[in-house]
Amino acid sequence: MSSIVPRLVGELTVGHVAGIIAACVVVIRFFCPALLTYVLAGLLRDTETASTWTVANASLQASVWPAILRTDSADSGGTARTLIRVTCKALPLMALLCAITGIVTPLGLGEESITLPARAGTFEYIKDDSAYGLGTSDRGQYPPSRICPGEHQNRPAKVGTCPYSNSEVVFIDSPDGDGFAVELPKGYNTSVPDEARDIFSSGTGNSTVSNFFDIEWRQLSSQVDPDLGDAKISVGMFRPLDSSILDNKYKVIEGLVVDAINGGIGFRNHTIPTGLSRGATWEEDILFVEPLTACVNTNLTLDFEMALLNNGSAGNIANLLLTDRGGFSQMNTTLPPLLVLDGQTDPELQQRAYKAAWLNNAFTMLYLNVTNEKDKPKQGMKSFSYMDSTIGKGFPVPRHSSDGYEFLQLSTVFGNYFHLASSTSSGTVGGRNYSNPFNVSQAEFDAINTICAGTIPANPVNMTNIYVGCGLLRGVPKRADGGSPLLFESGSKWSSPLHACASSVRATIKTVRFLSNSTGLVPLEVLAIAPKTYAREADAPLWGLEDWGFRLNGFNPMWGLLSPESATRKNVSTVRKPDFNLIGTSNGPLAPTLDLGAGDNLAGADFAQYAMNTVYLSVATSAGRWPIDLRGAASMSVFRRWQTMSQDAASAGGIINLMWTDVAASAVVGTRGVLGHVNSGTRPAGEILVQPIGNRITFDARFGIPAAVLVAWLGVIVLVALLCTCCCGGRAGVKTLRRRIEQLSVGRVFTTFLYPQDSTLTMPAKHWRVSNGLKTITVDAVASRAGEELLAYAGNVQEGSDTYGLIDRPKR
Ligand SMILES: *[C@@H]1O[C@H](CO)[C@@H](O)[C@H](O)[C@H]1NC(C)=O
Ligand SMILES: *[C@@H]1O[C@H](CO)[C@@H](O)[C@H](O)[C@H]1NC(C)=O
Ligand SMILES: *[C@@H]1O[C@H](CO)[C@@H](O)[C@H](O)[C@H]1NC(C)=O
Ligand SMILES: *[C@@H]1O[C@H](CO)[C@@H](O)[C@H](O)[C@H]1NC(C)=O
Ligand SMILES: *[C@@H]1O[C@H](CO)[C@@H](O)[C@H](O)[C@H]1NC(C)=O
Ligand SMILES: *[C@@H]1O[C@H](CO)[C@@H](O)[C@H](O)[C@H]1NC(C)=O
Ligand SMILES: *[C@@H]1O[C@H](CO)[C@@H](O)[C@H](O)[C@H]1NC(C)=O
Repeated sequence: MSSIVPRLVGELTVGHVAGIIAACVVVIRFFCPALLTYVLAGLLRDTETASTWTVANASLQASVWPAILRTDSADSGGTARTLIRVTCKALPLMALLCAITGIVTPLGLGEESITLPARAGTFEYIKDDSAYGLGTSDRGQYPPSRICPGEHQNRPAKVGTCPYSNSEVVFIDSPDGDGFAVELPKGYNTSVPDEARDIFSSGTGNSTVSNFFDIEWRQLSSQVDPDLGDAKISVGMFRPLDSSILDNKYKVIEGLVVDAINGGIGFRNHTIPTGLSRGATWEEDILFVEPLTACVNTNLTLDFEMALLNNGSAGNIANLLLTDRGGFSQMNTTLPPLLVLDGQTDPELQQRAYKAAWLNNAFTMLYLNVTNEKDKPKQGMKSFSYMDSTIGKGFPVPRHSSDGYEFLQLSTVFGNYFHLASSTSSGTVGGRNYSNPFNVSQAEFDAINTICAGTIPANPVNMTNIYVGCGLLRGVPKRADGGSPLLFESGSKWSSPLHACASSVRATIKTVRFLSNSTGLVPLEVLAIAPKTYAREADAPLWGLEDWGFRLNGFNPMWGLLSPESATRKNVSTVRKPDFNLIGTSNGPLAPTLDLGAGDNLAGADFAQYAMNTVYLSVATSAGRWPIDLRGAASMSVFRRWQTMSQDAASAGGIINLMWTDVAASAVVGTRGVLGHVNSGTRPAGEILVQPIGNRITFDARFGIPAAVLVAWLGVIVLVALLCTCCCGGRAGVKTLRRRIEQLSVGRVFTTFLYPQDSTLTMPAKHWRVSNGLKTITVDAVASRAGEELLAYAGNVQEGSDTYGLIDRPKR
C-alpha cells in the first residue's frame, strides 16, 4: 500500500487534481445544505408566522431530506399526475449529471511539450563538471606550436624547416662523411605562421563548423627541448580521463559531442540558449572526426580450457589450440587481387582486412605444413596442392604469459599466436614440433601490416596516402561447453574468434540536433546526429592538405576546410567531397601513440592517427598498462559487451571504433562554438534559429462524454421550454410561473384558508407580505390560527368530509 500511494501521487496530472476538487465540492454541496436544513427543522417551532413557514418550506423541500425520508414531495406513490411527476424526477437527475460532468471533465485534461516556431537564439557557455571538464586545461595560454622533421642526403634529421616557417636549419657534414650535425643559427621558431592559419581556417568563416585550428589538445603543458636550443614550447599532454564504452548513447562533454553508439567525436564549445523558460531544440552543423573499421573473420579460433587448479590468476589455462573453423580447409585459394589504392575515393577497408586475413591464414598454414607454397623447384608442386586440415582440427600453439586469453586482445602483429619473434627457433611449441618446412618467420607476418596499411613511413604526404591501422583482433572468448558465459569455472572450455581488422579515420560534417531542457536534469542533450546532406556535388566542402613533399614519417600535415581562394595557394592539394580521410601511416616500428606525448601542439594534425595507434598498440595489447579497462580484464560489463560484439566480424569493428572514441575523447577538445573561438578570436557564429519548447493543454475526448450528454439535454430542455412558451397557447411563461409559485407557497395556502378575508392565492407577493406575512399559524396535526382555534384535526380527515383536512369547527 505504501508503495502504491506515492506512485499514484506521482502520476497525478493537473486534470486529475481538478477532478478530485470537483468531487469534494459536490460532496460538500450535498452535505452542507443537508446539515443546515437538519438544524433548520430543529429551530422551527409549531407556531410561526406565515412568512416563516413559506421561507422554511422552500429550504426544507429543496433539501435532500424529502428524498431520503421519502416524504410526499419526493414520493407521490403514483398519485401525482404522470407528466408532472416525470418532470420533477428529471430535476435531481439533472443535478446528478451536472455533478458527474464537473468531476469527470477535468480528468481528461493533460499537458504536452511542443516546439514553438523558430526564432533567433542567444547563447551562453555551459561548463562541464564531469571528469572531462575537470581534466581540461585552461585555454589561451598555450599557442599552437610545431616541430617538423628534417632530411639531409636522404637521411632523416630530428628537425627541419616547417612549411611557411622562417626557421633556418643548417646541416653540417661531419669530416669523415659518416654523418651530419644540425645547427640552428637563429634558434628554432615553433610558432605557427599566420599564413598557415589563414589558409587552414579559411573554409569555415563564422559558422559553427570547426576547422583545423579549432581542434586543441585537452591537456596542455610546456616543455624545454634541448634539441631546439632549449626553447620552451607548448605541447599536448594525454591522460585517459573516463570511458564511454558502456554508455551506448550520444554524450556531451567539455568541448566535444561524443557518439558512443557508432564511434566518433564532434568539436563544439558547448553553449545553451538563454532566456527561455522551458529550453529549446535546434540544429547545428558540426565537424566530426570518426573512425571507420572493417573486420574479416579469419575463421580460426583460439580454444582453451580453464586449468583445473584455477587459482584465479590470468593466463591460468590449458590445452591452447588454434582451431580450423574453415579458415584453412575451406579457404578460397585465389590470391586476393592487388589493391589499387586511392585513399580519398574509397579507403577500401573491407578489401584490406580480407587480404590481411587471407595472408595471415596462408602463412599460418605454411608454418603448420597444412599446405604448400607455389612451385618450389625441388617439389614441383602448385600452391595449395595438399590440405592437411579439416574443420574442427586443432593445432597446439604455445602459451605465453603476457597474453591474457580470458579477455580481448588487439595487436598489430599478425600470427602473434605463434610468438615467432620471441621463440628461439621454429622449434617446440605446445608440445608439438612444427617442421615449418617453408621457413615462415615473423617477417612474413609483419609484411601483412605493410600491405594492409598501404604505406610505409618513407612515402610522401599526399591525398592518396591515407592513414590505415591494421591488426589482429582476438575477441573476448565465449563459452564453448554451454556453461555460464561469465564464469571461469575450472575445466570449462572457451573459444575466442580471430578477426583481421583495418581502420581509417575521416573528417566529415554532421548535422546535430540539440535539446536544452531547462526543467530537466541534463542541461544539454544530443537528440540526433545525421550526416550533412548536399544537394549537389559542388555544395560539398572543399578539403585541403599541406602538400610540401614531406615524408609520412614524423610529419603530420595540416588539413582543413578551405575557401576556394585558399585552394589556389602554393603546395595545397584539395578535394571536394563530403568527407576527408586523414593522412598518415600506422606502419613502422615507432608508430607514435598518445601515451608517449605529442611533442608539439598541433592537435588536429596528430590526434586521430595517434589515437588509432594507441588503440592498436597500447590499449588492448598485453603489453599496454592502460589505466582504464577497455579489454574486459577487470570489468565484467566491458567483458560482456565485447563478448557479444566479438563473435561477428561486422560488429567486431565497432569494438575498435568505440575504443578510438574513448581515447580521442580524452585527448582533444573543440574550442569553437556559437560564441566564437577563445584563442583565435573567431567571430561569433551568425544567427542560429532555435525552436523554444512550449506547452499545450490536451483533452481526452472520452472524458467529455458526460459534458456532451449534458449539453444535449440542455438543448432539449431549451427547445421544450421555447415550444411551451410560444406554441402551447402561453401555458408556460413567467406570469404562469409566478402564479404557480404563489399558489404553492405554504404560508399563503395557510392564510388563504385560515383568513379567507385577507388572503388569496393570487394576490401580489408585496401585498400578501404586508397583510398576512406576520400572521402566526400553528401547524401541528392540523393548521390553526395561532392560539385561537383549530380548524381541523385528524378525526375529521378520517371522516373524509374534506380532502384537504381544512374544515370549519365551532369555537371551543
Ligand atoms: C570466413 O568465413 C566468412 C563467412 O563464410 C567469409 O566471409 C570470410 O571471407 C572467411 N574468411 C576468410 C579469411 O576467408
Ligand atoms: C575467391 O576469391 C577471388 C578473389 O578474391 C574471388 O574473385 C572469387 O569470387 C572467390 N571465390 C569464391 C568461391 O568465393
Ligand atoms: C608436409 O606435409 C606434406 C603433406 O602431408 C608431407 O608430405 C611433408 O613431408 C611434410 N613436410 C614436413 C617437413 O613435415
Ligand atoms: C630454411 O632456413 C634454414 C636455415 O635458415 C635453411 O637451412 C633451410 O634450407 C631453409 N629451408 C627452406 C625450405 O627454405
Ligand atoms: C524536460 O525534462 C523534464 C523533466 O525531466 C521532462 O518531463 C520533459 O519531458 C523534458 N522535456 C523534453 C522536451 O524532453
Ligand atoms: C612545394 O613544396 C616543394 C617541396 O618542399 C617545394 O620544392 C616547392 O617549391 C613548393 N612549391 C611552391 C609553389 O612553393
Ligand atoms: C569555451 O568557451 C568558454 C567561454 O568562451 C571558455 O571559457 C572555455 O575555456 C572554452 N572551452 C573550450 C574547451 O574551448
